[in-house]
Amino acid sequence: MKSESDCRIHVSLKVKGNFGDIVLYNIDKRKWIRIGNIVFMVYDEQITATDVDVIENYQKLGFGKLMIEVLQRYAQEHMLSVYLYSLRDAIEFYKKCGFQRVSRFRRRGCKLILTNVEKGKDGKQVSYGDMVWVPKGLKCARVAV
Ligand SMILES: CC(C)(COP(=O)(O)OP(=O)(O)OC[C@H]1O[C@@H](n2cnc3c(N)ncnc32)[C@H](O)[C@@H]1OP(=O)(O)O)[C@@H](O)C(=O)NCCC(=O)NCCS
Repeated sequence: MKSESDCRIHVSLKVKGNFGDIVLYNIDKRKWIRIGNIVFMVYDEQITATDVDVIENYQKLGFGKLMIEVLQRYAQEHMLSVYLYSLRDAIEFYKKCGFQRVSRFRRRGCKLILTNVEKGKDGKQVSYGDMVWVPKGLKCARVAV
């Protein structure tokens, strides 16, 4: 099986209104084969990834991480955090991509907020997801309610 380094890859990132997708193609032999995709929403100053998928015979070759990195670059440029619900089997994958379990921050009587350190904005409560990736310049804080 091919590895990421010996495929010619085309990455497409499209955002229209509140919806976006990233699609990865293998363009070897002038044929475009879809390797995987991420579907996401941009809403309420956060990105929620609703579908992350690499087709079976391209899994464990670095393509999932590559797509997540594209999404993280977009999120960093727009200062958006990224949330998703992870299947139990994929939690380790997301941790390797820099995501953290939201439950790590949640404690009884506390909520997790994200604070825009650079702009000194008020904190924003985390929602929609059990894993979060936070761009540089935002920080997670646990706040008593
Ligand atoms: C989960 C998924 C997106 C990962 O994509 P992938 O291309 O196979 O993953 P990568 O090759 O980029 O893996 C990156 C790292 O995560 C690790 N990893 C990938 N899948 C893993 C898993 N299920 N469990 C533990 N580690 C995993 C890899 O070993 C690699 O580690 P390394 O950097 O130390 O070598 C893909 O396997 C998939 O589509 N699975 C089926 C659908 C699914 O579960 N989607 C997620 C829904 S929330």
